[in-house]
Amino acid sequence: NRSSGKQGTAIAVEAAARGAKVTLVSTVPAAVPPGVDVVRVESAAEMQAAVEARYDDADIVVMAAAVADFRPVRAADHKIKKENGVPEVVLERTPDILAGLGQRKRPDQVLVGFAAETTDLRANAAAKLARKGADLIVANDVSQPQVGFEHDTNAVVIIGADGAEVEVPLSDKRQVAVAVLDAALRVRSAAVRRSPGTQQPGTE
Ligand code: C5P
Repeated sequence: NRSSGKQGTAIAVEAAARGAKVTLVSTVPAAVPPGVDVVRVESAAEMQAAVEARYDDADIVVMAAAVADFRPVRAADHKIKKENGVPEVVLERTPDILAGLGQRKRPDQVLVGFAAETTDLRANAAAKLARKGADLIVANDVSQPQVGFEHDTNAVVIIGADGAEVEVPLSDKRQVAVAVLDAALRVRSAAVRRSPGTQQPGTE
C-alpha cells in the first residue's frame, strides 16, 4: 500500500531524542538517528515475528504500520505462464499483529494503535481501540487533504481507553509523534503506579 513509514519513523526519532531505547520494525526505514535499532521486514508474517520477539522487553509499543489485511494463500515459485489461462488468486487474512499483542499485554505495558478512517472517525476508532485491546488509538481522517499516507503532515485525535482525548490539528508528523508519546507516557505513568515493582518512566 501507499504507506510511507514517515509517521512511525517520526515516533522512533522522537522517542530516541527523549532518551528511550528504540527498535524500529519497518518495511520502509527512512533516515533514523544512531541508536535506533532498525529491523527490516517485508511481509506481515515477518513483522509479526520481529515485533513479538521483542514484545516482552518493551514498555511502550506503537503500531503505526499499515499492515496488509490479506495475502495470497499460495505464492508461485515460477513465472505464471499466460498460456495456462488467467490464474485465480485466493487470499487469506494476515495475522492482526496489534490484536495479538493486545491479548498478551502486561498491565505495565502501553500499546498504541493507529486507525485510518474515512467516516465516523471517533466512533470507528473507539471501536477499534476496544477490539484490539490497545490503550491508545491514534485516529486520522485520511479523506482530509494533507493527512496520513505519504504526506509529511498529519491531523489526528488520540483516544485513550480511559476516555481521554487529545486532538492534534494539522501538524508536522514529528509534532504528532510528540503528542503520541506524551499520551503514551501519561498512560504508562498511571500503569506503573498501579503495578508496583515496575520502574517509573524516565528512571530506566
Ligand atoms: O484493523 P485496522 O487495520 O484498521 O487497524 C489498524 C491498526 O492495527 C494499526 O495500528 C495497524 O498497525 C494494526 N494492524 C496490525 N496487523 C494487521 C492489521 C492492522 O497490527 N494485520
